[in-house]
Amino acid sequence: MAFSEYFELNKLTPRARPILKWAGGKAQLLPQLLPHFPKQFNRYFEPFLGAGAIYFALDAKCPAIINDANPELYELYLVLRDHPNKLTRLLDKYARKYSENFYYDLRASQPRSPISKAARFIFLNKTGFNGLYRLNSKGQFNVPFGKREKCPQLYDSENVKRVTERLKKSQIKNCDFEKVIQMAKKGDFVYCDPPYSPLSRTSSFNSYTAGGFSDAEQVRLKNACNEAAKRGVFVAVSNSSAPLILNIYGDWRVHFIKARRSINSKSHLRGPIHEILTTSWEMRPKNFNSLRSRLEVCHP
Ligand SMILES: C[S@@+](CC[C@H](N)C(=O)[O-])C[C@H]1O[C@@H](n2cnc3c(N)ncnc32)[C@H](O)[C@@H]1O
Repeated sequence: MAFSEYFELNKLTPRARPILKWAGGKAQLLPQLLPHFPKQFNRYFEPFLGAGAIYFALDAKCPAIINDANPELYELYLVLRDHPNKLTRLLDKYARKYSENFYYDLRASQPRSPISKAARFIFLNKTGFNGLYRLNSKGQFNVPFGKREKCPQLYDSENVKRVTERLKKSQIKNCDFEKVIQMAKKGDFVYCDPPYSPLSRTSSFNSYTAGGFSDAEQVRLKNACNEAAKRGVFVAVSNSSAPLILNIYGDWRVHFIKARRSINSKSHLRGPIHEILTTSWEMRPKNFNSLRSRLEVCHP
């Protein structure tokens, strides 16, 4: 039972939670998403990990292969797995230095050691504006200071222990999603949470990596998922309800998920929107087209 009893079991033995605040993070959507996932499978694959809300909700014993193209994120997970104490000691030091000047000094720095890089990443994520991750055209992190009066909690010691244990039982990768999806075999479960297709051309936030994620990338992802589904892999994909996505996943079951996006620099664009979860192994309901036409797509 990899996910199905999550809410009951989590009360008895809490599982790890994401360390970072991440655009598109799935923590708040767990109650809507988990019931749609397969009850049983062999290995769990997450090719677009981000902060890993779904991965961390997984049964601790389930073997997992996790991946993100963002090299800083990858290195952070390696440090959390191998050197959690050194990392938290450095974060304590940073918390004592908390100020706007310290934020910009650290942002401008280019540390070499993996532990300093990981501490910088967490500090900027927790104290920067709205938990955004944004790179400029030179690949430099350019999010402004979050202007909180006091330093927010940078980590929770118990959670770091759980995260370390979970990561020790996983393969951690830093490559393109296609390579990871190709590794999945019959009976495995692949959950994809790619950068979303924009609902309108001005609303796009999909620049977690310097290259962005184009329409052609969305089609390449669907092709890789189709190949996996043909091998007998369970594949589920989250995305926006943009017309492109409803079209390319037209042959899969589509579930509409009510979401509230909090990461947007403009507060009036932080309201509720519909996104989708699409699954390769279920039949589409006969009334899909009427469901689709009733969908209130919110175009910000
Ligand atoms: C929507 S976020 C995932 C959010 C995650 N589910 C969570 O709960 O935090 C998408 C992630 O895909 C990663 N990404 C972008 N392009 C990628 C690619 N070609 N291959 C693998 N990962 C990629 C980004 O770095 C980003 O972390």
